[in-house]
Amino acid sequence: MGFKKGFLWGGATAANQVEGGYNTAGRGLANVDVVPIGVDRFPIITGQMKHFNFDSQHFYPAKEAIDMYHRYKEDIALFAEMGFTTYRLSIAWSRIFPMGDEKEPNEEGLQYYEDLFKECHKYGIEPLVTITHFDCPMHLVEKYGAWRSREMIGFYEKFCDVIFRRYKGLVKYWLTFNEINMILHAPFMGAGLFFEEWENQEQVKYQAAHHELIASAVATRIAHKVDPENQIGCMLAAGQYYAYTCKPEDVFKALEADRENYFFIDVQSRGEYPAYALKKLEREGVTIQMEDSDLELLKEHTVDFISFSYYSSRVASSDSKINETTAENIFASVKNPYLEESEWGWQIDPLGLRITMNSLNDRYQKPLFIVENGLGAIDEPDENGYVVDDYRIEYLSAHLKAMKDAVNLDGVDLMGYTSWGCIDLVSAGTGEMTKRYGFIYVDRDDQGNGTLTRSKKKSFNWYKKVIKTNGEDL
Ligand code: BG6
Repeated sequence: MGFKKGFLWGGATAANQVEGGYNTAGRGLANVDVVPIGVDRFPIITGQMKHFNFDSQHFYPAKEAIDMYHRYKEDIALFAEMGFTTYRLSIAWSRIFPMGDEKEPNEEGLQYYEDLFKECHKYGIEPLVTITHFDCPMHLVEKYGAWRSREMIGFYEKFCDVIFRRYKGLVKYWLTFNEINMILHAPFMGAGLFFEEWENQEQVKYQAAHHELIASAVATRIAHKVDPENQIGCMLAAGQYYAYTCKPEDVFKALEADRENYFFIDVQSRGEYPAYALKKLEREGVTIQMEDSDLELLKEHTVDFISFSYYSSRVASSDSKINETTAENIFASVKNPYLEESEWGWQIDPLGLRITMNSLNDRYQKPLFIVENGLGAIDEPDENGYVVDDYRIEYLSAHLKAMKDAVNLDGVDLMGYTSWGCIDLVSAGTGEMTKRYGFIYVDRDDQGNGTLTRSKKKSFNWYKKVIKTNGEDL
């Protein structure tokens, strides 16, 4: 028993973490460009973002990233050598609409991705495209306050309309918003949101989330209209919550914590606001402004599949004395005493992937797609750039085994798997290069020094074998 015929194997990246060329070929500035490496990466973002300027005290890694903008042919050739049948990437919105609210798109930006998609097809690689991977043109942040404004839906609609038409026949798998639940945890980096001192932040976040959910439904409608072959997915930063103990209060806490994340997917997949969310928002005094047609739109344009990232499970406790937390993925979670952790304190739980897949499958009954998973680690290359990354192989192999069990033993319908950061890239959480996920090493350090030369790690040939055997040989 293995994975189904046509199972999509590959890797994933995001524009701002790989491309660089932040002001090349007419590209506009985006929120993801202006977050520096270091302690100031996630400050409480206040009204100062209305007038952003780069300063010389900070290093902004997204400006050059790993320069994939200029090197994509070399990189895609390496992906092809590993046998990828899909490559997940994102389109930088501000390459297509540099300000975000223009009438006409930037042809150079459109041409860039057209060439890139054609390059993928040259090798039989199917692009899997994230329309928005955290990015928002800075002009939309500064002028409209990003997703807090309903006007964003119109700008996003136009962006989607342009790319769906232009890339018809070249792209059929689309994700509307990367880790849509991240808006609650990293509102500026995840959605361009900043707050005024006096504001109720929850109110702003859920209103903005509503706008994203409507925009996602609008995108789904257009995608299906432009090409019935298009398949649209939502994307969740997933990871099942476990109760710290079997105490009923802990179990309920875990259920509530899961619902905070599932809320978004419940809307995108089932097409309506779940009752528990409406009650919670009401209790918290959050009122979402809606237009008459919103609920109908959500109902009629649900997603075709559920994609998600998985790095770890999470833990919830009702006891305030249980307060040792992990560093996982911006989500603070109680530390699980049974699990080991990465050098960045992210806990490692392969079985948690199988558990998460089963929960998502039971809840939505739609095909799943794992679009991120991997180990961020410090690599020590030799003089040829070769890294013996057995720890990465071990992590991925254990997760792929759990994924295989979910498919073969539990009957989960899985479309594919793209490991995160198949080529080393800038960390979204820290801005570091030192935190590496790739099968391909990139010579660049946290301060931007290095030749940007690419070299294969030991895991490169291991993953090639995994794909060649369709996951039989892990
Ligand atoms: C996900 C994001 O949250 O996790 C990626 O979609 C990110 O953009 C990945 O890079 C890993 O997180 P980090 O902080 O190690 O880069």
